[in-house]
Amino acid sequence: MTLTVQRPKPPSEDKRWKMIDVAMRRQGYSPHALIEVLHAVQNAFGYLDDDSMTYVAESLGLPLSKVYGVATFYHLFALKPQGEHTCVVCTGTACYIKGAGDLVDGIKQRFGVRLGETTEDKKLSILSARCIGACSIAPAAVIDGKVHGHLSVDELLARIEKVV
Ligand code: FES
Repeated sequence: MTLTVQRPKPPSEDKRWKMIDVAMRRQGYSPHALIEVLHAVQNAFGYLDDDSMTYVAESLGLPLSKVYGVATFYHLFALKPQGEHTCVVCTGTACYIKGAGDLVDGIKQRFGVRLGETTEDKKLSILSARCIGACSIAPAAVIDGKVHGHLSVDELLARIEKVV
């Protein structure tokens, strides 16, 4: 008899969840892998939010309170920022080589915020991710959950300006 374990469904169709699933599978969905899995989420999404922590908790069979506890205890983890809109700039190797640093500088010049910061009017938070799984369209960024690739500084600024 084979036992099939029902895994929870990812919070969205975003293909970055596949990267998280791979990370959890590699660890055999062990509760001990919590910190490593939270790192994987942050590396892919730039921050942890309620949906991602719930998904990780359910997948690893842990109480949500435990996941929140770990996420808030360690300063390495960024919780969902306070800005009304978010722009996550991928600063992974592929994106970095293709000019992610210029994107970050452009945002700083235009909006006055660095990675990890939120504008004073709380309209925009800027975060970084280590790889959002879109290396083939580097440099890439995610604005309010939508992935954009082959970005020039001007294009990125224009796209951010459209939403803020
Ligand atoms: S390094 Fe940026 S998408 Fe992979």
